[in-house]
Amino acid sequence: MTAVDDIKARLDIVDIVSETVKLRHSGKNYTGFCPFHTNTKTPAFVVFPDTQTWRCFGQCNEGGDLFNFVMKREGWDFQETLRRLAERAGVTLHEYTPEEQEKVEENEHLREVLSMAVTFYQHQLRNTEAGKQALDYLYGRKLTDETIDAFALGYAPDSWDALTNHLTSRSVSIQELNDAGLVSERGSGGVYDRFRHRLVIPIRDDRGRMAGFGGRVLREDDVPKYLNSPKTAVFDKGRMLYGLDMARRDIRLKDQVVIVEGYLDVIGPYQAGFKNCVSPMGTALTEDQFRLIKRYSRRIVLALDPDAAGQKATLRGLQTARETLEREGDPIFDSRGLMQVEGRLKADIRVTALPDGLDPDEIALEDPERWAQLVAEAKPVVTHVMETLASRADVDDPKVKEEIANQVLPLIEDVKGSVEREAYRQRLARLLQVDERALVRQSSGGAPSRRRSFRPRQKLPQMPASPTDNTHRQLEGACIKALLADPSLVHFVDRTFRTYELASLQADDFTHTDFKETFKLVKLALEQDAENPIDYIQQRLSEPLRDLILEGNQEEDFPNWRFQPNAPVLESLLNMFIRLRRIRIDEGLDQLVFLQSQERDEEEEGALDISKIALEYVKARARLDQALQQGNRLT
Ligand code: UTP
Ligand code: MN
Repeated sequence: MTAVDDIKARLDIVDIVSETVKLRHSGKNYTGFCPFHTNTKTPAFVVFPDTQTWRCFGQCNEGGDLFNFVMKREGWDFQETLRRLAERAGVTLHEYTPEEQEKVEENEHLREVLSMAVTFYQHQLRNTEAGKQALDYLYGRKLTDETIDAFALGYAPDSWDALTNHLTSRSVSIQELNDAGLVSERGSGGVYDRFRHRLVIPIRDDRGRMAGFGGRVLREDDVPKYLNSPKTAVFDKGRMLYGLDMARRDIRLKDQVVIVEGYLDVIGPYQAGFKNCVSPMGTALTEDQFRLIKRYSRRIVLALDPDAAGQKATLRGLQTARETLEREGDPIFDSRGLMQVEGRLKADIRVTALPDGLDPDEIALEDPERWAQLVAEAKPVVTHVMETLASRADVDDPKVKEEIANQVLPLIEDVKGSVEREAYRQRLARLLQVDERALVRQSSGGAPSRRRSFRPRQKLPQMPASPTDNTHRQLEGACIKALLADPSLVHFVDRTFRTYELASLQADDFTHTDFKETFKLVKLALEQDAENPIDYIQQRLSEPLRDLILEGNQEEDFPNWRFQPNAPVLESLLNMFIRLRRIRIDEGLDQLVFLQSQERDEEEEGALDISKIALEYVKARARLDQALQQGNRLT
């Protein structure tokens, strides 16, 4: 349950409206004079307790839930309204309680301190003798000044207190330095600079806010080779990806993200024009990181180093989930884990095998075409594992065949589509030069086959839901999430609606204010052309909406049409919007029936012609039902 649901469950719209509007009981509903326009003769304003909604049937012809009523009445934005109503309902918001607000401000401050450090390190790189060594190192790795500046690379001097002195002289406290992860504590008390004589790489979150640093040694035998910021209030390397702030634009444009292993493997390709690379920071990829990426693209390519962390780890991962390694933690890509993440997130994960001894940064800078080709040739996880295993020298040995089959078959079982699964089985049989039936027998023998549970076909609710009904809120939420994934879907829905002579999608199709507001933002995003609509929305979606819509509901209940832009997926998306409109119309009709039961002054200016509207509704409903039944609208 989100905070909005919680608040709605605790506050009654009738109570809230009554504070400023004199309501009269009428049947199961309440009527009154609309507070939003001059309305003195016939009460045009109705509150529906059943659905906890309101509507003005007069001039405003507007309606909604508790939230937008209060927003209109008080002139507050959604965020303010949420805060006030939460307080009133005794619901704790995770965001924007005073303590949280304070924390947000503290974090802002930490980010400022980190930004001051970035400037200091950049200055050291450019203007000091020792920094020149670091700069030469970067030139030696073929990076240009432009790239060095774009990534704000810097140099941390070989000193225990250079940064500390610099920042404390600018009234940053030791405590703040510590909170920002820029210093380490001495056992004896006091602190010292964490990064010393290192190349420093600022790490920002996906929105470009400073979070931490990675520091690479400049003396080959210093350890560790890379030192990262510790976990702080603004830095958690397991939940972030290096380079995402720089890459997100291209990731969207190309609808593809390449995951590489290290900082310089992000920077090198970037300079070579491949700006869609990101990397973990010395730890295994986490599902959080995949989720983060998925907001930008679901087509994910893993470009792994050919050494320990690369192919071998892919295979080793089949047997051991995780090996403790000397360094902080190698990215270990467990194939089975990848397959499962792929299924859960409805992503398309591919692996590219890099040539021996070459890192992405070298390949991309020396031979950009080769890099492009390697990425283009990335293979699905199963294929990658199969081919790597089958390239073993002793593959003719029956025991080895058996071993390989045992490793690959569980992966194949994890594949979603039955056609795809079958294709992999055939492929494996060919690679091992065995009869495919032997593989089938083997996979069904032993433990009961752990078939992937097929997602049940989403059942459409037979009866239109009411706004207080959970399924209705879910439907609205699913529509909004689909629009956030690609705002241009609005055009597609509108085009279809037009062919059925239906009005285009509008904010009023949504009852719940959080969704209504988000829809308005989507429309604004489409009306401007200064920014990519998704970026436009991302920049402006206020925290509570972001949380409610993006985080509050991770279970994805809309088909991913960006990933599978095929007719059936589009159909089912369209169905959601048709059902949305259908509910709106049914609700409208119910309301008209109620209005008709009221005494009304037909002469009043702007009075509704109920029978005319009702007729429109009935016609629209018939066309919607026709659209729902027709199916195959797109083929
Ligand atoms: P590698 O050690 O594979 O990088 O670490 P590399 O390609 O040889 O390094 P360069 O190109 O010479 O700089 C890859 C990534 O693993 C993390 C870092 O994020 C690094 O970019 N790492 C590596 C650590 O976090 N700690 C370490 O001690 C080593
Ligand atoms: Mn490297």
